[in-house]
Amino acid sequence: MIRNILLLGSEVLSENSEPIENFGEDTKKLASDLLQTLEANPGIGLAGPQIGVLKRIFVIKLDDGIKRVFINPQITGTTAETSVYQEGCLSIPDIWCDVVRPVGVSIFAYDENGKPFNLDADGLLARCIQHEYDHLNGRLFIDHVDSVQREHLVSRFEKKRLAQRRKKKARA
Ligand code: NI
Repeated sequence: MIRNILLLGSEVLSENSEPIENFGEDTKKLASDLLQTLEANPGIGLAGPQIGVLKRIFVIKLDDGIKRVFINPQITGTTAETSVYQEGCLSIPDIWCDVVRPVGVSIFAYDENGKPFNLDADGLLARCIQHEYDHLNGRLFIDHVDSVQREHLVSRFEKKRLAQRRKKKARA
């Protein structure tokens, strides 16, 4: 099922998510909903809180088409080397910003069947893992920049939303 994506301003996005305790049909359904919602939107990753579910789960699908599910993830290591990349987020549409993060990460997580795995990632996958992992701790990519720049990004987002709402009204 395709779910609604919460946008910046929703308090849920700044809350901490709880671990998933049961690997049953509910968890499989949640993973499947996240993947379907991601595929219906122009993004590469989506986390539980973004669809209003404060559970430690996120999904990633890059251009390679592989559907990756991470449940109760723990980042077990990061490289000292960092890189800058312009990030966006389905919860903050049309806003982009350079974010500095480690180039590589090691992660331990469970898949939707409860099977544990370790993964060493770099490049876009490592970038996306860190962005989604942040969502589980109530952190957004705009929280990585200084407060002046953050304010600027938030006000740009709000202006765009207002303009869109006006457009919709005019059409109705
Ligand atoms: Ni995001």
